[in-house]
Amino acid sequence: MHILVTGGAGFIGSHTLIELYKAGHTAVVVDNLSNSNPVALQRVEEIINSGNHAIPFYKVDIRDREGLERVFAEHRFDACIHFAGLKAVGESVEKPWEYYENNIGGTLVLVDVMRKHGCKNIIFSSSATVYGDPAEIPITENCPKGQCTNPYGWTKSMLEQVLMDIQKADPEWNVVLLRYFNPVGAHPSGRIGEDPSGIPNNLMPYITQVAVGKREELGVFGDDYDTPDGTGVRDYIHVCDLASAHVASLQCFTHAFTHSRIHTFIYNVGTGHGYSVLDMVKAFIKVNGVDVPYSIKPRRAGDIATCYCNPSKAKAELGWEAKNGIEEMVRDSWNWQKNNPNGYNA
Ligand code: NAD
Ligand code: UFG
Repeated sequence: MHILVTGGAGFIGSHTLIELYKAGHTAVVVDNLSNSNPVALQRVEEIINSGNHAIPFYKVDIRDREGLERVFAEHRFDACIHFAGLKAVGESVEKPWEYYENNIGGTLVLVDVMRKHGCKNIIFSSSATVYGDPAEIPITENCPKGQCTNPYGWTKSMLEQVLMDIQKADPEWNVVLLRYFNPVGAHPSGRIGEDPSGIPNNLMPYITQVAVGKREELGVFGDDYDTPDGTGVRDYIHVCDLASAHVASLQCFTHAFTHSRIHTFIYNVGTGHGYSVLDMVKAFIKVNGVDVPYSIKPRRAGDIATCYCNPSKAKAELGWEAKNGIEEMVRDSWNWQKNNPNGYNA
C-alpha cells in the first residue's frame, strides 16, 4: 500500500516507516517538524538501506489545507497513518487552546482533504489516557472511556469520537483507533530513537538522560500508590512492536477483513505486563551496567496508580503481539542514548 504518514519524523512515526518498508509498503511523510528533526528521516532511509527508497517528505502543517492539497495532488494514497499532534501532557494544561487547535483542528483539515481525494482509510494514534482512571485492570477495549485529566487526553478522546461519527455517516470510511500504552526503546541499530526537547516528561528518556550524565538524578513520583512497591505501574511497549502494530492494522483496510463488520476498529496496543517505576530503573541498571541515581518525590498531579492492558483482541483479530520484553526495552533505550547523547543534534 502507499501510505501517508503524518508526523512521520517523530518518535513513533520514524520507527513505523521502517516497519512499513520492511513489509513492502511505501510511504510519504508530512510533518511540520515542530517536535522532530529531519535527520531522523535520513537515518530511516539509511536503515531501510536504499537509494531507491527515498521517502518523499513534505514540511507541511496538517492545518495547512493548501499544503495538504499539494501532497494529495502528487500521490494517490491507500491509507493514512496519523501521528501528527502535540503530546506533552503538562504543556497541554498550560496551553489548552494550542492543543485543541493543533490536534483537533489539524485532524479535521486532514480528514476533509482525505475524503475529498477518496482516501477513507485512517489509523489514528490514540492513547490509554482515554480510559482515564481505568474502571478495570487489565484494561480491555470494552472498558468505558473515562474522565481525562488534561487537555491532551481530551483531544485523543474527542478525536476518537469525531472519527467514529464520520465513519458512521459514511460507511466508505475504515477507522482504526490504536490506543497506545507506554512506548519506550528504540530501533536496535541505535540510529533513531526518542529525542525530547527540554526536560523529559516521560520516565524512560529521563532515566537515559540521568544515565548519560545530562541530569543528576531521577525523581520517582510517589512510592505510596496501591501497587506492589508503591510506585506507578505501566504497560511499557517497545516502540518497534508498537510500529509493527500499525503494519498489522493495515489489513483492516482489505475487503476480506472488513467484510460484514462495522468499520471502526479499536485496539489496545501494549504487552499486557505492568512494570513499576522501580522495576524499570532496576532493569535498566542491571541490563546496561550503568547507575541511575534516584530519589522519591511527591506524586505527580494527574497520575494514576496502575495502567496496563489486555492486548488479546489485537492478537486474535490482527495476529499482532509484542515480541520484545523489558530487557530489550531498556537495552535499546540506552543504546540510542549512549550513541546519541544529544539526540539528533550531534
Ligand atoms: P512526536 O512528537 O515524536 O511525533 C509527532 C510528530 O508530529 C512530530 O514530528 C511533530 O513535529 C509532528 N506534528 C505535530 N503537530 C503537527 C502538525 N500540526 N502538522 C504536521 N506535523 C505535526 O510524538 P510520538 O511520541 O511519535 O507520538 C506520535 C503520536 O502518538 C502522537 O499523536 C501522540 O499523541 C501519540 N501517542 C504518543 C504516546 C507516547 O507516549 N509517545 C502515547 C500515546 C499516544
Ligand atoms: N515517572 C517518574 N518520574 C519521571 C517521569 C515519570 O516517576 O521523571 C513515573 C510516572 O509517575 C508514572 C510512570 O513513571 O508512574 C510513567 O510516566 P510517563 O510520564 O512516562 O507516562 P504516563 O503513563 O504518565 O503517560 C504516557 C504518555 C501519555 C500517554 C500515556 C498512555 O506521556 O501521553 O503514557 O498510557 F497517554
